[in-house]
Amino acid sequence: MKFLKLLLLLFIVQTQAQQGGMWIPSLLKGMNETEMKNLGMKISAEDIYSVNKSSLKDAVPQFDGGCTAEVISPKGLILTNHHCGYDNIQSHSTVENDYLTNGFWAYKMEDELMNKDLEVTFIVSINDVTSQVLDGVTSIMSEVEKQKKIQENISKTNASFKKEAWQENRIRTFFEGNQYILFIIESYKDVRLVGAPPSSIGKFGSDTDNWVWPRHTGDFSLFRIYADKNNRPAAYSKENVPYTPKHFLPISLDGIQENDFTMVLGFPGRTQEYLPSFAVAQIQNELNPAKIEVRDAALKVQDGFMRKDNAIKIQYASKYAGVANYWKKWIGETMGLKKSNAIAKKQKEELAFQQNVIKAGKQVEYGNLLSDFQKNYIDIKEYAIARDYFTEVFLRNTELLSTAYKVYQLEQVFNTKGEQAFNDRKNNLLASLKDFYKDFNPTVDEKVFEKLIQIYATKSPKQFLPNNLTAINSATLASDIYKNSKLVNYEALTKLFSGDSKTILANLNQDVGYIFVKEIADKYMKEVLPKFDEINLKNIALQRSYMKAQLELNKNARIFPDANSTLRITYGKVKGYEPKDATIYNCTTYLDGVMEKYVPGDYEFDVPKKLIDLYNTKDYGQYAENGKMPVCFIGTNHTTGGNSGSPAIDAYGNLIGLNFDRVWEGTMSDINYDPSICRNIMVDARYVLFIIDKFAGAKNIIEELKLVHPKKKSKKRKSINN
Ligand code: ARG
Ligand code: ASP
Repeated sequence: MKFLKLLLLLFIVQTQAQQGGMWIPSLLKGMNETEMKNLGMKISAEDIYSVNKSSLKDAVPQFDGGCTAEVISPKGLILTNHHCGYDNIQSHSTVENDYLTNGFWAYKMEDELMNKDLEVTFIVSINDVTSQVLDGVTSIMSEVEKQKKIQENISKTNASFKKEAWQENRIRTFFEGNQYILFIIESYKDVRLVGAPPSSIGKFGSDTDNWVWPRHTGDFSLFRIYADKNNRPAAYSKENVPYTPKHFLPISLDGIQENDFTMVLGFPGRTQEYLPSFAVAQIQNELNPAKIEVRDAALKVQDGFMRKDNAIKIQYASKYAGVANYWKKWIGETMGLKKSNAIAKKQKEELAFQQNVIKAGKQVEYGNLLSDFQKNYIDIKEYAIARDYFTEVFLRNTELLSTAYKVYQLEQVFNTKGEQAFNDRKNNLLASLKDFYKDFNPTVDEKVFEKLIQIYATKSPKQFLPNNLTAINSATLASDIYKNSKLVNYEALTKLFSGDSKTILANLNQDVGYIFVKEIADKYMKEVLPKFDEINLKNIALQRSYMKAQLELNKNARIFPDANSTLRITYGKVKGYEPKDATIYNCTTYLDGVMEKYVPGDYEFDVPKKLIDLYNTKDYGQYAENGKMPVCFIGTNHTTGGNSGSPAIDAYGNLIGLNFDRVWEGTMSDINYDPSICRNIMVDARYVLFIIDKFAGAKNIIEELKLVHPKKKSKKRKSINN
């Protein structure tokens, strides 16, 4: 009996320790399926991915390139995050109809709003094409030539792989160049807005609560896919009809409990779980601090203006949120890497790796990998730091500088491709900049410039800076440029852009703002980028061998490919965590917590009156749990950016929630996933339904859905069997 208990304990400890990983849905049979069933899954790998019958993957498209969505009705209704639909909701908003502030609900299909350039992409099939892509590659020694041959093979395979006329082939690499997979995809281009809660629900807690648990955000929005008469992708047309999905997700009303099985299907963007310790050390000690410092300064300036001036708040809200998102993530990531001793953990793994290499007699092939890595990361350090400072200061956070940089690229186009290409690019640029200047405030940006150039001049490696920059007075420089440059407003810019290419370029090269950027960009393009690329290419080749070696030497290890924006599945349990000594976090939050955070009139923590009324009368309908309204929950699913909007699915294949974030203490999961502390955050499906039904009164939407009681059913099933 004791022995059995011990065995059981061992088993529990093991399954817990083993969680994490983002797996390829077509390759779940075997280890993953067993593990999933041990964790409580009741369906099979075939129910998740199948080419022969409809399966879960048919209900999960990529949304707008960077997010995920799921089909939840037989009429092509899809659910994704509020922050994923944000740009589209914003683009329909005007002062009179401010859907961001007030929400939007289509009570009939005719009221749904079309969106320019919004598409969702389904995966039709997943096919291994490694041998085709690597054909004739191994004998090539030079890395540059190797990459060229691979690109040729990819084009050839893409062109010849059999698909239907309306479909596309897309090849992506897995395990850093050791495996290639072709996806046949279908992209639907008529996707209409159906519903969005007000930001005080959909973005509740905003940047203060971002990346944080406990969380109370109803981060969802609804869209509908339209297709042509044959149910195939088509550009927007009045004649289009609601898409009939191969599969849609029923929604569970039974809720979740700690330790319930959960899985998340979606399109995670990028992780770096197999970096050597030298790379992790560089991220933790050099690169993240540099990027954080720049954004910290930019955000402080913007926040100061936004708090004083409502018009600026509106102009900068979305930009601020974009910059703040990864600023905050990097801070959490850096702390998490330190706290989880990621570098030491990697070093230990590297020691074991070296021993394994010797044991396997593979010194010739793999013996020098780690020392080569070490040398490269020393060599690349200054270039990598310079690159991050340039990117953050010039391309990302000072608006005038990033505009000037685009103009700089335009001059390069003239130099390399001539007059015609110059004119085409110029017209595109003018069109895109028109929107940019609407939300551009030179007073704010001048202050940002002043602070960021100061950082650039003093912190970016000196050897790559123009000599005169280190001695500048950034305030004087800022006021000179923002007073005299033609790049500070659209009218002046269009004037500057009139005439033939020679005139334009001559005038440009007289502009103070342009001259300033050009000198620095020239130096960067000549002295930093080529050398960075050269060493980076060596690291890419090393990373490929390192991965190959790990796959070869640890045949039974649980190795998953890094995220690469392709469809993956991750699974685990609903679970709380202990972020620090004497602190325990529960796994679910309730509407009571929304009311606790409520600050009337605050732009992050205001609560709509209707929601307060529903709370006071406890009018939760069938969505309550013991008289309380659930809002969010967390689990051990391994997710990253791009998983936003992903369905959280129960043991039976029903929707239980909507993924949208991770917890603060676990944001290092992209580099060092630690199952004890990494959690993904989901909105409870019942909260979504409650908002649609009770808050918005959109019964039309509720009627389309399939609401189920899997737990009650399984209890009944059990009692019949007993
Ligand atoms: N942190 C989440 C993600 O990386 C949510 C971001 C949107 N919310 C925000 N307050 N910026 O996308
Ligand atoms: N919030 C992220 C997204 O938008 C998800 C994450 O990073 O956990 O994809």
